[in-house]
Amino acid sequence: MLDRIPLAGAGPSLAYEHADAETLDELHDDAQACQRCDLYRSATHLVFGEGPSAADIVLVGEQPGDEEDLAARPFVGPAGRLLDQCLEEAGVDRDRCYVTNAVKHFKYQMRGKKRLHARPNAGEVQRCAWWLGAELELLKPKLVVALGATAVSSLLGSKVKVMRDRGRILHPPGKLDVLVTIHPSAFLRIREPAEKEKNRIAFVGDLRRIQRFLRH
Ligand code: URA
Repeated sequence: MLDRIPLAGAGPSLAYEHADAETLDELHDDAQACQRCDLYRSATHLVFGEGPSAADIVLVGEQPGDEEDLAARPFVGPAGRLLDQCLEEAGVDRDRCYVTNAVKHFKYQMRGKKRLHARPNAGEVQRCAWWLGAELELLKPKLVVALGATAVSSLLGSKVKVMRDRGRILHPPGKLDVLVTIHPSAFLRIREPAEKEKNRIAFVGDLRRIQRFLRH
C-alpha cells in the first residue's frame, strides 16, 4: 500500500509557527499566559503536550478532559489509558511518543455538578493551532497521528474526513506526514461489547501503520 499520499488541494490549516521559544519547556512556560481565545477563563490549567523532545511520533488529541484539566497533563484519564493499551497492542513504543492536543484548555458545560466535555469551535481550534504548530516546529517528528476530527481539522484542514480517510498517511506539501485515525473516546463509551471490540481492533489496526511507516 502507498505510504505517502500527497494531500492535493486540501489546504492544511496549520502553518508551523516560529515561536520565540527555543525549547519545549520555554514554549510551555509561554503558553501558560495564553489568552488567544476565552477558554482559559473557565479551565483550571493549561494542558500542554508531554513526552520526550526527541520523540519521532506526535499524537494529537482534541482537548484535555476533566481529569487532564485537574492534573495539568494530557491523556491521563480514561481515553488516555485506552490509548496507551492500544499503542502497546499495536507495538508502538510509548517512549517514542509525545502526546498533545489541538486545543490546550478544557471546554465544558456544567450539568449539575459535572463538567461535561463540549466540542471546541473552529475559531478556538484555529487560535490554538499556533501552539500546536510551534510544538511541531520544535519536535520535528517523523510522523504526526491525528486522533479524531478536531485534530484532523487543525492539522489538515476541512477537506480531510476522519471516517473516509482513516488509516491513511497524508503528506501535506511542505509539512509533516500525518496518519489519520479516530479518537479513542469514539469507542470508549460504546456499551455493546462486540461493537466496542470491532472499533478497538480497527483503531489498533490504524496504529499499526505507525511502525510500518517508521521502518521505511
Ligand atoms: N482526550 C483528548 O483528546 N485529550 C486528552 O488529553 C484527553 C482526552
